[in-house]
Amino acid sequence: MATTFFKRLANATPVAFTDAFGGHRKSAFSGFQVPFGAIAAVSGGIFYFYNFSSPNLAHLDQVNEETGPKVALNPNKWIEFKLQDTARVSHNAQLFRFSFDPTSKLGLDVASCLLTRAPLGQDAEGKTKYVTRPYTPISDPDSKGYFDLLIKVYPEGKMSQHFASLKPGDVLEVKGPIEKLRYSPNMKKHIGMIAGGTGITPMLQVIEAILKNPDDNTQISLLYANVSPDDILLKQKLDVLADSHPNLKIFYTVDNPSKNWKGGKGYISKDMALKGLPGPSDDTLILVCGPPGMMEHISGDKAKNYSQGELTGILKELGYTEQMVYKF
Ligand SMILES: Cc1cc2nc3c(=O)[nH]c(=O)nc-3n(C[C@H](O)[C@H](O)[C@H](O)COP(=O)(O)OP(=O)(O)OC[C@H]3O[C@@H](n4cnc5c(N)ncnc54)[C@H](O)[C@@H]3O)c2cc1C
Ligand SMILES: *[C@@H]1O[C@H](CO)[C@@H](O)[C@H](O)[C@H]1NC(C)=O
Repeated sequence: MATTFFKRLANATPVAFTDAFGGHRKSAFSGFQVPFGAIAAVSGGIFYFYNFSSPNLAHLDQVNEETGPKVALNPNKWIEFKLQDTARVSHNAQLFRFSFDPTSKLGLDVASCLLTRAPLGQDAEGKTKYVTRPYTPISDPDSKGYFDLLIKVYPEGKMSQHFASLKPGDVLEVKGPIEKLRYSPNMKKHIGMIAGGTGITPMLQVIEAILKNPDDNTQISLLYANVSPDDILLKQKLDVLADSHPNLKIFYTVDNPSKNWKGGKGYISKDMALKGLPGPSDDTLILVCGPPGMMEHISGDKAKNYSQGELTGILKELGYTEQMVYKF
C-alpha cells in the first residue's frame, strides 16, 4: 500500500525535484530559495488596477484607499484557481502554486487560511457531495497572480489525495479568507511559536509578515517539532531566514534523530519551552499549531466549537495565561 501511495505521489509530480529549492529552471518554485524573492521586487513595478463602480475619475483616489487593488478571493463564493506548478518538499509533503489574474493579489490579512473543496461522489438525490478542508497559504499575501499551499499528503486523506491527483492546468475550488489572528506590526515585543509538522504554515505566514517589514522589531522564537529530520518542512528556507534576520531564532526537535542530528530529541519538553520561548509576560504571545496530540501536550486543544478552549499542558504549567497563547 505504501508503494502505491508513493507511486501516486510521484505520478502527481510531473517535474522531478531533489527538493523544492533545488532551483529547477522550469519550476515556479525555483525562486523560492531567495528569501524575499525576485517576485517581490518585480511586483513593486506592476501597474495597479482598481475596482471602482463610478465612472467618475475624480473618485479614483478615494476608491483606491477604500478598496485597494483587486483581490482574487471572495469570502462568499467558491472560485476556481488553476494549478500552475507543484513540487515535492519531503517524502509526504508537496508545494502547490495556484495562479490567478496577475494584476490582482490574493486578498488576505495575516494570519488567515482558505477553504478548499473537492467533489466526492453524489448524494441520494444526485447532488454533488464535497469534502471541504482549510489550508494556510505560505506565499506573500501581497504577491500578484499566485498563492502557494504546502500540504502533507495522507495515504487515506480525502482532500490531500485530491491535491496529490491534481496536474498543472487542473483547477481547485477555493473560498475565503478566514481570518484567524489579526497580526499588526509590533503588537508584541516577542512572539514564541510552537509548530508540529504542517503546523508550520501559519507560523511561516506570520514570520514572513514580520521579517519583510523593516519597521517591525518583533523578536521571533520558533520551536519546530517533527518525526524525523527528513520530515522537517521548508528547513532550508527557514534556516536562510534565520541566518539573515537576527530577530528570528529556530530550534528543531525530532522524535527519530539521525546520527548527525544537532537539534533536540523527542517531543517539545518543558525544558525546551523554558529555554526557547519568551517567558510569560504581557509583551509575549505564544502561537501553537500542530496535530491534536501535540496540542494536548503543549496547550490543550481548541474547544469543539473552535473557540480557543482552556489553556492546559506545558504552557499552563510554565505560567502562561490564556491571553498570552493563541491556538491556530
Ligand atoms: C486552520 C487550519 C489550517 C490548516 N492548514 C494546513 C496546511 O497549510 N497544510 C496542511 O497540510 N494541512 C493544513 N491543515 C489540515 C487540513 O485542513 C486537513 O485536515 C488535512 O490536509 C487532512 O485532510 P484530508 O482530507 O487529506 O485527510 P482526512 O481524510 O481528514 O484524514 C487525515 C488522516 O487522518 C486519518 N484520520 C481521519 N480521521 C481520523 C480520526 N478521527 N482519528 C484518527 N485519524 C483520523 C486519516 O486516515 C488520514 O490518514 C489545516 C487545518 C486547519 C484547521
Ligand atoms: C465554546 O465552548 C466553550 C467551552 O468549551 C464555551 O465556554 C464558549 O462559550 C463556547 N463559545 C461559543 C461561541 O459557543
